[in-house]
Amino acid sequence: MNQLKWWQKTLVYQVYPKSFQDTTGTGTGDLPGVTRRLDYLKSLGVGAIWLTPCYPSPMVDNGYDIADYCAIDPAYGTMEDMETLIAEAKKRGIRIVMDLVYNHSSDQHPWFLESKRDRTNDKADWYIWRDPKEDGSAPTNWRGIFGGSAWTYVEERGQYYLHTFAEAQPDLNWENPAVRHALYDAANFWLRKGVGGFRIDAIVYIKKPSVLADGKPDAGDGMVSIHEMIANTPGILDFLYEFRREVFDGHDIFTVAEANSVPPEDLCKWVGEKGAFSMLFEFTHMNLEFEGGEIWCHAKKWPLTKLKGALTASQKGTAASGWYPIFFENHDQIRSVSRYFSADADPILAAKAMATVLLTLRGTPFVFEGQELGMRNMKLPRIEDYDDISSHGQYQLALDEGFSQKEALAFVQAHSRDNARTPMQWSKEKNAGFTAGTPWLPVHPDFADVNVEAEERDAGSVLNYYRALAHERLAGKASHVLLAGDYRELMEEDERIYAFSRSFGDHTAYVLVNFTAKDAPYDEGVHAGAKRLFGNYADTVRGTLRPCEARVYIK
Ligand code: NOJ
Repeated sequence: MNQLKWWQKTLVYQVYPKSFQDTTGTGTGDLPGVTRRLDYLKSLGVGAIWLTPCYPSPMVDNGYDIADYCAIDPAYGTMEDMETLIAEAKKRGIRIVMDLVYNHSSDQHPWFLESKRDRTNDKADWYIWRDPKEDGSAPTNWRGIFGGSAWTYVEERGQYYLHTFAEAQPDLNWENPAVRHALYDAANFWLRKGVGGFRIDAIVYIKKPSVLADGKPDAGDGMVSIHEMIANTPGILDFLYEFRREVFDGHDIFTVAEANSVPPEDLCKWVGEKGAFSMLFEFTHMNLEFEGGEIWCHAKKWPLTKLKGALTASQKGTAASGWYPIFFENHDQIRSVSRYFSADADPILAAKAMATVLLTLRGTPFVFEGQELGMRNMKLPRIEDYDDISSHGQYQLALDEGFSQKEALAFVQAHSRDNARTPMQWSKEKNAGFTAGTPWLPVHPDFADVNVEAEERDAGSVLNYYRALAHERLAGKASHVLLAGDYRELMEEDERIYAFSRSFGDHTAYVLVNFTAKDAPYDEGVHAGAKRLFGNYADTVRGTLRPCEARVYIK
């Protein structure tokens, strides 16, 4: 337990600055807004804030299209605001974690503007350029992650460039050492500013196969998802180890890579003492409704055993050497209450049940803004109301697959990333206290009840549940078990209850969560001899978990 590093003994809170707190009335959040709310975050037990990109950006993908890696977008404030945030956070024992978006830049980045000019300029091979096929069409039939071809033609060069994501996000050419070192320099710039770590975006895509070839179409548009064609291309680890040596080594920071589909046998090369990163986000437990690529109109129902299996696999996968972030929400995912519980479940109990899983598994819990309030999905009435670029791509894809406009909209409403991006709910005042102006995305209509001020006053709120359980995890009497204990899944076959134990020395914690909106009887022998430590109901009924009930026992 004493061997645990600072970032293994804390909570990380993800701030999506655009939606967090506006201090200027522009309708978008800003860095002084984050600084203003530091005491609130401290009260949750937060030791690090992952700040999604706040660099200069045309905002085609809300900042994941970066035009300058070493500056702050004026919409969010100034470099001085960032320095203030880092310093004020540090005073409260909180480190700021920056998002490194290094698979691609913005098409407005000076590097790309130069690269696209002709085939001979200094940056000519800083991006991935290829000639058209003989008929003039794109070099391959790859579909970008946001839909449409992954290639865009540029007249000046008579060539296409590759973009794993939007057209405005050209992929950088990592094969070129000058590119890699320019990126390392930018990360080192932020280390000198005193940041506490990095979240590294879309890193599995940086290495491309040596030959780029067509793949077998996987949907009605005749294309194949680029993810299937380039994710985790062999040779990627050489880049990652170099990245580690040139940037991370020797600093008391953590790194967490967004890295889906890493083969389990390779995990020890990706994370842990010898791995490239401290932790990695992988998404099996978030993609339960998708098989063979995230195509929203192909979503299917899934049984609880699938979620349990995914969580157990990741807990086991890193048990020996690694460490995982525990997360059920982020800015790309729908709200967890809406994903993991049926519509008839009580949303407050369900949010507390999710909190129980989040705060009792092994790993570092990541809380996404508003999750600690029990914020939920929000349906917008028209496709034009959605800002999220992937929502528009998926809408088109659904139409291509033959769905009606109404059906396509329903897929967007159910899966859109905007579900998580609605403004943070601070109070019952105008716009939930987020902005004095017009919010860039509508505020969820439930804000009169679901907001920080109201929940702080209510002993039974989701927020106070988070605070109490986070305290139990980080500083309570069972802290060593919850932080360092070994994980074992219990009642594996049960379709209603997720149950597991955490053991450390002579102590064991038992966690049981009913994921249904009905009573779930079970055999209490599973936690024989243990006492109830925590739960989302005030009392206990023996041998049954009530709807959405979560309990933690300890012995
Ligand atoms: C993953 C980020 O989390 C997401 O928001 C973004 O759209 C893509 N990577 C592209 O950078």
